[in-house]
Amino acid sequence: MIRDEIEEILITEEEIQAKCRELGKQITEEYNGRFPLVVGVLKGAMPFMGDLTKRIDTHIEMDFMDVSSYGAGMVSSGEVKIVKDLDTSVEGRDVLILEDIIDSGLTLSYLVKLFHYRKAKTVKVVTLLDKPDGRKIDLVPDMAGFIVPDAFVVGYGLDYAERYRNLPYIGVLKSEIYES
Ligand code: PRP
Ligand code: MN
Ligand code: MG
Repeated sequence: MIRDEIEEILITEEEIQAKCRELGKQITEEYNGRFPLVVGVLKGAMPFMGDLTKRIDTHIEMDFMDVSSYGAGMVSSGEVKIVKDLDTSVEGRDVLILEDIIDSGLTLSYLVKLFHYRKAKTVKVVTLLDKPDGRKIDLVPDMAGFIVPDAFVVGYGLDYAERYRNLPYIGVLKSEIYES
């Protein structure tokens, strides 16, 4: 069982789902009638994108961008690479970027700048998790689900070496897993 590799569950499946309903309501009110372009950042945002968008009760367009920090290490290298770009033009659009976590802030600050450069009308950020202790660049999300401590968290989109994304909860990985 994967659960045996998890030290502690930080945020349960029920808490995540309740947060998606709450954020979905907020997004519905804010973007009602504006047909925002909701951009999921692959791969981590995939489960959040699925659950949150189901709670938005106004028309949206969905698109995806695959960006990754260079290197496969645990620490972000600071360089961002576009693996897959959007299919849609953001020009004149209200763009809402969905992320699983903001750590250093480098991925999102890059995307926010890119979408402004491409002449988006507005660019806002909603993240499920915010890890303020990891920040290397000043970036404050417009909406955040939960604040997490500076621990190695996995699950619900967040991976360690591409594993654990499929967990329905957020947990702290046992140190023996990444030390071995
Ligand atoms: C992770 C996470 C965020 C980003 C946050 O993605 O999903 O996108 O890092 O870190 P930052 O604030 O320090 O930039 P990653 O680049 O590992 O790709 P993945 O989503 O495919 O796992
Ligand atoms: Mn990611
Ligand atoms: Mg990753």
